[in-house]
Amino acid sequence: MNMNELTQHFEKRFGDQPRIFRAPGRVNLIGEHTDYNDGFVMPAAVAFSTYVAIAARLDRKLVIHSEEFPGNFEFDVDHLPEQRTGAWCDYVLGVASVLRQRGAKLQGANLLVHGEVPIGAGLSSSAAVEVATALALISQTRMQLPLPDIAKFCRQAENTFVGARVGIMDQFVSCMGKAGHAFLLDCRSLEFQFVPIPAGIRLIVCNTMVKHDLATGAYNTRREECEEGVRYFAKWDPTIRALRDVSVELLDRHLHDLPTAIGKRCSHVVRENQRTLNAARALTEGDLVQVGKLMRDSHDSLRDLYEVSCPELDIMVEAGQGLPGFWGGRMTGGGFGGCTVNLVREENAENFAKQIAQRYRHATGIEPQVYLCTAEDGAGELS
Ligand code: GLA
Repeated sequence: MNMNELTQHFEKRFGDQPRIFRAPGRVNLIGEHTDYNDGFVMPAAVAFSTYVAIAARLDRKLVIHSEEFPGNFEFDVDHLPEQRTGAWCDYVLGVASVLRQRGAKLQGANLLVHGEVPIGAGLSSSAAVEVATALALISQTRMQLPLPDIAKFCRQAENTFVGARVGIMDQFVSCMGKAGHAFLLDCRSLEFQFVPIPAGIRLIVCNTMVKHDLATGAYNTRREECEEGVRYFAKWDPTIRALRDVSVELLDRHLHDLPTAIGKRCSHVVRENQRTLNAARALTEGDLVQVGKLMRDSHDSLRDLYEVSCPELDIMVEAGQGLPGFWGGRMTGGGFGGCTVNLVREENAENFAKQIAQRYRHATGIEPQVYLCTAEDGAGELS
């Protein structure tokens, strides 16, 4: 749907001209399951986006509609539900409710949500809805909020209202992404640095089309295992607050004192942080061989140590190996299905897409989707 169509849909439904806000999904190049350990991530915003069209109402109702998702929702802006409803509108409600808690004087409004980020593919469709909603709702108030704060509030909405204990990566890159660049984020200080993606490189995102049920439960278990790891390390070094503070030396010294599963999770996180910093340096220097190697190591570690990959992701990663123009690939996002990300030379991109799809289909019998992406700008209002 183009933006004229979205405006027309809005006018037809609500009889008003809307303002339209866009927030992108993301692909993470490296730094997986590090964000909630106060570590480093290096994602990029991609073109898949969610759009929220909004116009004020004269009453105090918040009316939420989407052409893609079922239901038409109406709430009283002064008495928003305090708990999740179980419907997709929770992402909108959660943001509205956090903004209110933070002092925003929300107005009655009509919202039309149009989502183009594939759902359940690990490309942050939920962060995109949250961020676009936040920009739209704030536009109806006098509140001025810097984008990093918007990212924090959206994460809070997902943590406390939707009930998913996610880290800050997705919301932050959706707010702050920059075309042509990946984004090295320190998830503790929220300092960041743009890392240019060398000219002539495409990000090819391959959707396995599977999402295993394990995903949410296992995500929370991994978080708890990391917390348990921190408790051990804090005994040996009381300055340690998060796995981010554990050096490779300290890890190696104590690996055998940890329960096996905890040791594996900690090994992944500590080394993944290091890999992410190294990858940012290598990408800046245009050393794609090194970036490719680090991506591969990251995948192997997610598969063997963090144990969040699945056969389909592993097959998709293998399917990229050796194809012309391929520099590196790995699973991206939370895991247990979803997508892989591959760095591929532009002139080989189309052929790569065809061949990887063919190899994956042959091995699994599943028809994948392959997206040729570039890094895009973060969220904002459409003029
Ligand atoms: C999901 C979460 C992120 C991050 C990744 C794993 O996408 O939303 O916060 O933890 O998993 O890196």
